[in-house]
Amino acid sequence: MSNSIRVAILTVSDTASLDANADKSGPTIKEIVSKAGFICTETTIVPDSIPRIQNQVKRWCDQGDIDWIITTGGTGFGVRDLTPEAISPLLERHASGLVHLLMATSLQHTPMAALSRPVAGTAKNTLIVTLPGSVRAVKENMDTLVVNGVVKHALELIQ
Ligand code: MTE
Repeated sequence: MSNSIRVAILTVSDTASLDANADKSGPTIKEIVSKAGFICTETTIVPDSIPRIQNQVKRWCDQGDIDWIITTGGTGFGVRDLTPEAISPLLERHASGLVHLLMATSLQHTPMAALSRPVAGTAKNTLIVTLPGSVRAVKENMDTLVVNGVVKHALELIQ
């Protein structure tokens, strides 16, 4: 199925929403999913705004042709870090196992992983996962989700 998995990447960042060149994590995710044989069909940048995040994610879920939405950024403790608060109400089924997996593996890399507040789950037939904003964190988290086939199997079950 990996060849037909369609991925949308949402970068959540006030800075990158003003200057797309500042977005290093979105392109990093795109490179990783492409190497894994998935198809990245959408990439967008929005500021750290709950309605802006929700509007984009809802639109992608309603489209019906996106299997996996990956957000990057806005998961931390900063006052403008609102991605989990935006995504949580959209989830029809929470995937706490994925959150545990990401947290467990990330904590093996750095205790700073405790400063991320990831959420994951499904809305309609789309899997949504929120990743931190740094390139390093993105690489570590994507490695966990993609390399060992966890997401591929999850998506097979969702369809
Ligand atoms: N997770 C991994 N695997 N590797 C990291 O380097 N950085 C942490 C954490 N999660 C990190 C990580 C740091 S320093 C922060 S502040 C939080 O993610 C939140 O990042 P965000 O606000 O950009 O989403």
